[in-house]
Amino acid sequence: AAEPAAGTAAAPVVTVAHRGASAVAPENTLEAVDVAHQMGIDWVENDVQRSKDGELVIMHDDNLARTTNVEEVYPDRAPWKVADFTWKEISRLDAGGWKGEEWAGARVPTLKQYMKRVTQNRQKLVLEIKKPELYPGIEKEILTELRRTGWLSRAAVRNKLVVQSFGADSLRTVHKLRPDVKTGFLGTPAVADLPAYAAFSDQINSHHGTVSADYYAAVHALEGPHGKRLESYTWTVDDPARAVELAGWGADGIITNKPDVIAEALEDA
Ligand code: G3P
Ligand code: CA
Repeated sequence: AAEPAAGTAAAPVVTVAHRGASAVAPENTLEAVDVAHQMGIDWVENDVQRSKDGELVIMHDDNLARTTNVEEVYPDRAPWKVADFTWKEISRLDAGGWKGEEWAGARVPTLKQYMKRVTQNRQKLVLEIKKPELYPGIEKEILTELRRTGWLSRAAVRNKLVVQSFGADSLRTVHKLRPDVKTGFLGTPAVADLPAYAAFSDQINSHHGTVSADYYAAVHALEGPHGKRLESYTWTVDDPARAVELAGWGADGIITNKPDVIAEALEDA
């Protein structure tokens, strides 16, 4: 269906699996996007960073300690920064055991492995460039990988891809390199500043504690860089009643660790 023009009714609210179905499965793993897929959730959100030797990897924190067994495997390598480890070293780590024994053996995926899996699952992707200030030039590398995996085709950029970041400069770079790719700025800019963000962001994706019905009205009154109504997804909302409230205020998407629960609540509302 065609996207609504500015000022017209929005499409149904989208449920996005935050770091995959991360309430159940270890975040930012292939297992977590597979669980989202099994739940019938087509939109997933994941974070991308870069290893010491230039491999793009799916990981939220800028160090490996919380979500892998890196401290055990490499006890002398504190503070275990992603950027201090080669891909070969990262590939040895267990990224699932911390979540429960049943997930032991899950690995940190490369962006390439990850794109292959979401493609197989026919999922749609909100890809976050995490801490872009740590990884100069990462935008071009990500776009190259997206192109290689078919995610910059006309249909893909229209229907199934958003690149988001807390880094406005990073998103400006993405928009400059590939103006057709949809982008999402993570944050809650002042209403007066929204037009400046709408020059390079199709979405303003805000923490749910920072928004209101009035804020959504201000966002929706604007058009993004593709001439479509500016959208706003919100994070991280695991309480179904809160998700329904935010949808009622005008949220276009709910980013959640519990996508099954939230999708059902939104359907029933
Ligand atoms: O998608 C929004 C959310 O992922 C931003 O916060 O810290 O979970 O990456 P964080
Ligand atoms: Ca994220």
